[in-house]
Amino acid sequence: MSSEIKVVAVIGAGIMGHGITQVSALAGCQVRMVDVSEDFLNSGVEKIKWSLGKLAEKKAISESMDSVMNRIATTTKLADAVKDIDYMIEAVPENIELKMETFAEADKNAPPDAILATNTSGLSVTMISEATKRPNKVVGMHWMNPPQMMPLIEVIKGKHTSDETLKTTLDLCQRFGKQPVVARKDIWFFLGARSEMGWDTEANLMWLRGEAKVEEIDAMARYKLNLPMGPFELADLTGAVDIMKGAYTSIDKILTKNPDFEPDPVRLYILKRVAELISIPRSEEGKSGMKTGEGYYKYPGPGKYARPEIAKELAEKVAPIDVLASAVNSASRCVTEGVGSIEDTDKCFKLAFGWPKGVFEFADEFGVHNIVNTLREKKARVPDWQKSFYEPDSLLVRMVEDGKIGKIVGEGFYKY
Ligand SMILES: NC(=O)c1ccc[n+]([C@@H]2O[C@H](COP(=O)([O-])OP(=O)(O)OC[C@H]3O[C@@H](n4cnc5c(N)ncnc54)[C@H](O)[C@@H]3O)[C@@H](O)[C@H]2O)c1
Repeated sequence: MSSEIKVVAVIGAGIMGHGITQVSALAGCQVRMVDVSEDFLNSGVEKIKWSLGKLAEKKAISESMDSVMNRIATTTKLADAVKDIDYMIEAVPENIELKMETFAEADKNAPPDAILATNTSGLSVTMISEATKRPNKVVGMHWMNPPQMMPLIEVIKGKHTSDETLKTTLDLCQRFGKQPVVARKDIWFFLGARSEMGWDTEANLMWLRGEAKVEEIDAMARYKLNLPMGPFELADLTGAVDIMKGAYTSIDKILTKNPDFEPDPVRLYILKRVAELISIPRSEEGKSGMKTGEGYYKYPGPGKYARPEIAKELAEKVAPIDVLASAVNSASRCVTEGVGSIEDTDKCFKLAFGWPKGVFEFADEFGVHNIVNTLREKKARVPDWQKSFYEPDSLLVRMVEDGKIGKIVGEGFYKY
């Protein structure tokens, strides 16, 4: 039970770790924040104080900064930090070997009934759990950035995660004031990012085929669908080309040990090809986005953000359904494969990516039959290596056969 969780260790005091520490302490837990040097720990503590100060100014917290800070201890010694914990949240860099070493050490030193969670963005929770002697007590707890502000946590059930571990983690998310969604299978990119991957991949493929310019696709997303930003703008902000390069380099290593991590050969193939043709070369040319000062757009300097100016008229050049169809297809596959529910998938789009509507809500509005027709039309004309990406998911095909095509008939993914 989450109310029994009183002592938490957060491993890593970086972008995510210090935020997770703050949220855990605000929820009343005693927290041990761990990093490899005092400098990293001090920097994490300063950021927490700054953030608590802002919350206090806005009267968003009911206790003093000192009383919250009194619940946070810091150390460079993981073995000491975990010796009497109830729960651990690991947020060290995204490297499978490092995560496995961290879990093996935590497992040796933590009480046998403590739960060990990883904040990995896309590594195998199952593989990480197998570095311990308690794989049933290992779970994915994928926070969004910044942890203090973002309302959603994606909880990932690894192959060995017990129902009890899952339930305690879901309860703990609620106690932290977050809305959890569940990825019921530990597959590449889990539920949220995997569903959204169809959107990004389609944008890249349309650009590669010369059908639309970067600014035109982003303008359509901003001005026609009212998304906070388009796929290329977002990629620049998050450094997506580097993330995809990293994912490309680690996936084969993970699949050798855990082949179930990517059950869909079509997805694996297309993501690898897009990485080879776009992400890896751009990353190697230093065009990683805002952090290097240049990506799909130019920025005032490395790490300096200015929102790209995109003319509204460009939105007319791209039909929203042209990009949306692949997003719906990719998300629908997640539902068909049993990774997540329709509602949880839509929650990811709204609460993690800031979409005004979930991808399935959009599908109901545009008409599921129109989504399927768009996919089939694309499949007929794209180069051979891209065709299988456009095969409509069986759930979409069945919905069209059953006449459940969306709002227009009163039933689609939702009832109206
Ligand atoms: N940054 C994001 O937007 C984001 C969002 C969701 C999930 N994540 C995931 O969270 C994890 C952490 O990412 P981040 O952005 O906070 O990285 P970061 O580089 O900002 O922080 C990682 C911290 O871990 C410390 N560290 C390294 N080795 C360690 C060890 N052996 N023991 C203890 N501490 C160690 C580093 O010194 C660093 O301070 C990654 O798995 C990442 O994929 C990141």
